[in-house]
Amino acid sequence: MKIVVIGGTGLIGSKLVKNLRERGHDLLAAAPTTGVNTITREGLAEALDGADIVVDVANAPVWEDKAVLEFFETSGRNLLAAEAAAGVRHHVALSVVGSERLPDNGYFRAKVAQENLIKASCIPYTILRATQFFEFVGGIAQSGTVGEEIRLSPALFQPIASDDVVAALADVTVAPPVNGTVEVAGPEAMPLDEVVRRFLSATRDTRKVAPDVHARYFGSVLDDQSLTPGKSPRLGAIRFEDWLGQQVSR
Ligand SMILES: NC(=O)c1ccc[n+]([C@@H]2O[C@H](COP(=O)([O-])OP(=O)(O)OC[C@H]3O[C@@H](n4cnc5c(N)ncnc54)[C@H](OP(=O)(O)O)[C@@H]3O)[C@@H](O)[C@H]2O)c1
Repeated sequence: MKIVVIGGTGLIGSKLVKNLRERGHDLLAAAPTTGVNTITREGLAEALDGADIVVDVANAPVWEDKAVLEFFETSGRNLLAAEAAAGVRHHVALSVVGSERLPDNGYFRAKVAQENLIKASCIPYTILRATQFFEFVGGIAQSGTVGEEIRLSPALFQPIASDDVVAALADVTVAPPVNGTVEVAGPEAMPLDEVVRRFLSATRDTRKVAPDVHARYFGSVLDDQSLTPGKSPRLGAIRFEDWLGQQVSR
């Protein structure tokens, strides 16, 4: 079975390619650096030739509101059209838990637009929505930084290790399309400010994190339901403390 991973050189994509190759599938890692570009369509038709399944884990290079929307809309349209022409039987995409709940967040609006294109296409699909990756916690700290201080919401979120995301993604990729959405989250819900505080302390970053219920998360005020999954998500096994311990001992 030929599986093309769009964004196959990224954090999730490269691990997914390795995982599915080890399961015996024929994998193509597609990305601009391997000659496949979903925006310009360079190399796209050739990459999809003979493909049974396409997994889209590409990410936008720029996250400014207009640019990120343009990326996911153009990339999604070009990719789905090329898949229809190539007779692809399953389109899998990685999105974010709670995207539709935070319309003030430009990145989330772009992910909802990507999801809507998939739902409107004629290709059988599975959308896997994941919570924030542990690997993204440093980026969250950066987003809340004003001078020497970091102000972050104490709302609950349920972050997940990228390895657990990849395991779930590999499973849904080789399963039949569900024509719907599946959620995956980390094993524990925790306050956002507290997770960032633990991350900074473990990485010997001396900046202080102040809890602030009004602090915006990429443009949106959060409550305990904003970023947490719905009923019965698939749960990852790796705890944040254990992941953090591994990062700092490397
Ligand atoms: N971060 C989170 O907490 C989180 C949570 C839930 C879901 N997600 C989703 O997870 C997905 C993967 O994220 P990631 O962190 O693995 O991304 P990443 O490490 O930034 O990798 C992005 C990938 O996209 C490729 N790419 C960029 N422009 C492209 C184009 N025009 N055509 C084809 N490929 C292109 C890059 O290729 P090059 O290497 O050639 O540049 C790279 O392989 C994203 O869709 C994101 O929305 C993220």
